[in-house]
Amino acid sequence: MPAFGNEINVAHLPYTAEVKAKTDHLYPLVKAFIPELEWELQAPYIAAINDLKATKNAVILAHNYMTPEIFACVGDYQGDSLMLAKEAAKTDADIIVQAGVHFMAETSKILSPEKIVLIPDLRAGCSLAASISGADVRLLREKYPGIPVVTYVNTTADVKAETDICCTSSNAVEVVESIAEEFGVDTVMLLPDQYLAKNVAAMTDIKIITWAGSCEVHEQFSADDIREIRAGNPGVVVLAHPECPPDVLSEADYAGSTSGMSNYVKDNQPNNVVLITECSMSDNVALENPNVNFVRPCNLCPHMKRITLKGILNALQNIEHEVVVDPDIAKKARRAVQRMIDLPMKKGQSTYSHIGKPEVMAIEARG
Ligand code: 13P
Ligand code: SF4
Repeated sequence: MPAFGNEINVAHLPYTAEVKAKTDHLYPLVKAFIPELEWELQAPYIAAINDLKATKNAVILAHNYMTPEIFACVGDYQGDSLMLAKEAAKTDADIIVQAGVHFMAETSKILSPEKIVLIPDLRAGCSLAASISGADVRLLREKYPGIPVVTYVNTTADVKAETDICCTSSNAVEVVESIAEEFGVDTVMLLPDQYLAKNVAAMTDIKIITWAGSCEVHEQFSADDIREIRAGNPGVVVLAHPECPPDVLSEADYAGSTSGMSNYVKDNQPNNVVLITECSMSDNVALENPNVNFVRPCNLCPHMKRITLKGILNALQNIEHEVVVDPDIAKKARRAVQRMIDLPMKKGQSTYSHIGKPEVMAIEARG
């Protein structure tokens, strides 16, 4: 991924009567998080983005970690990485703007090669995607012949191209079990998140080989953090993302993907809840659940936070920054991503409750 791609060439836009008329209906959605004065600075960009989406036949795919003004006011589809990949595969828009990180935009391009896919800031990376390369996967295949390779979607296209099937946190358990059955083996490589791999290992009898990658946001949470939160907030319901270390999950009441956590809050309406994940997630879930109180220790993802309204407007106005994937790599990678999308989810959303031990067979690293 190039180390540039953050230029923003958009004019300053004033808050006019026309902007007000175009955006007044959106303000109630985010009022709880955006004071009126700040809204007047943001609304002109929201109006301009929504106008441009219509004239350019563009859609914005917004991940659950986007800030509320992006998530609720310009996003056309909101969700976890699996849901956004599915939307990218079926949209008939000419342009996809990925309000998320680079691997998500690459996944959209892989699934919709004929469309223009834009990322508002090319520097929006991911510590997991940066941890492993296609060459690393080829070496692992030499070391473990016959063992199928599952890679998390949080990887680059060249890693996906070396993969048998992709997974996300919302389907990882089912993907691992289905590929083991298909290959007639009892061991699977699940790369590159060592914590996700351990959390999956606790939910299945399949043996797992993994990689020394981790999410720089979720690995910061500890079991002590959860115990402190519980001590300070009696009765609080703790929901965690499976990129957290296993001892964090063993202290949680529920663990699942970002959509899994969002659905849990919607369905259970706890009085008091804490989401052990990226900070914007609580704001976005709170927008739809006004009766739930959110305790808010969280960690920011610096990559997700590179995506701004001005960056999105710049992307649409100037058709920047286009995500390009080598067609041969895209073709191979598409097979792995499409296979995941087509997998019948017999057990539904993967949840992680430490029924077994979170132990993996091996954690491999670059030699
Ligand atoms: P989800 O697939 O749960 O949305 O997670 C994506 C991600 O990057 C989490 O850190
Ligand atoms: Fe990557 Fe973690 Fe940020 Fe998700 S939260 S994009 S896994 S660094």
